[in-house]
Amino acid sequence: MNPPHLRSSDDDTLGEHTPSLELKTSADGSFSAYNAVFDECYHSLKDGALQESLYKHIIPAFSACENLENMRILDICFGLGYNTLASLYYRQIHILPMNLHIYSPELDGSLLTNLIDFPYPEEFSHLPLREIVCALRDRGIYEDAHTHIEVRLIDAREYVRQLPTESIDVVYQDAFSPKKNPELWSEEYFAQLYRILAPNGILTTYSQSAAIRKNALACGFVVYDCVHNEGLVRGGSVMSKHELALPHYRLKRYGTP
Ligand SMILES: C[S@@+](CC[C@H](N)C(=O)[O-])C[C@H]1O[C@@H](n2cnc3c(N)ncnc32)[C@H](O)[C@@H]1O
Repeated sequence: MNPPHLRSSDDDTLGEHTPSLELKTSADGSFSAYNAVFDECYHSLKDGALQESLYKHIIPAFSACENLENMRILDICFGLGYNTLASLYYRQIHILPMNLHIYSPELDGSLLTNLIDFPYPEEFSHLPLREIVCALRDRGIYEDAHTHIEVRLIDAREYVRQLPTESIDVVYQDAFSPKKNPELWSEEYFAQLYRILAPNGILTTYSQSAAIRKNALACGFVVYDCVHNEGLVRGGSVMSKHELALPHYRLKRYGTP
């Protein structure tokens, strides 16, 4: 295994308190929140926060990588923590033996304090939620026998630049929309994601934007439109370095005649 070794710097102090989150109920009953700085919600309220996380990120990623003994995940960005927590939830309900190493940059230092009492969905209730959030808030790291989670207060672009080449198996590309958060969708940024992705790795994203897909194609990614067979949420994209097939998903390769 080749985990990225990222050391926290002195200014990585998590937990400055700012006004609490403006909660929003989403279509599947799970809570998301509204971010006034970006003027956007953390999740699609139409698809549902939990459903979006599971069907656009976690299930495609675990389907592609479920035989790994150690799965190294880059969660862009931590936000309310759904993608990180849903990864632990998925491993738990499917009794998968793998170790999870989750690395997540986040700009907003107030989030983790505000997440201590976040009304996460019932599905997460068998996870040590409070322990995880408190450890991440206080030390930026949570660890148990099979889990390592790191959250660093840093610009995601800088974080990705520091990661070793081919050191990540899964990228959850879950920034705010390209319109509101353009720096995390540029061709230059995707070139870095391509560099750090392992040869058999996968990138998942909710975006179906042609401009974003073109940026990814230009960096060498094989890009697919990705829709779950049961159509529980709208489609997204998955990207990889080689051709990909995912059970239970219709994949249509983008950019080929
Ligand atoms: C759509 S939310 C992520 C939702 C999250 N994946 C979840 O499951 O709850 C986007 C997050 O990216 C963070 N962010 C935006 N630009 C960033 C940047 N340049 N570097 C690090 N974090 C950034 C925002 O503060 C926000 O928390």
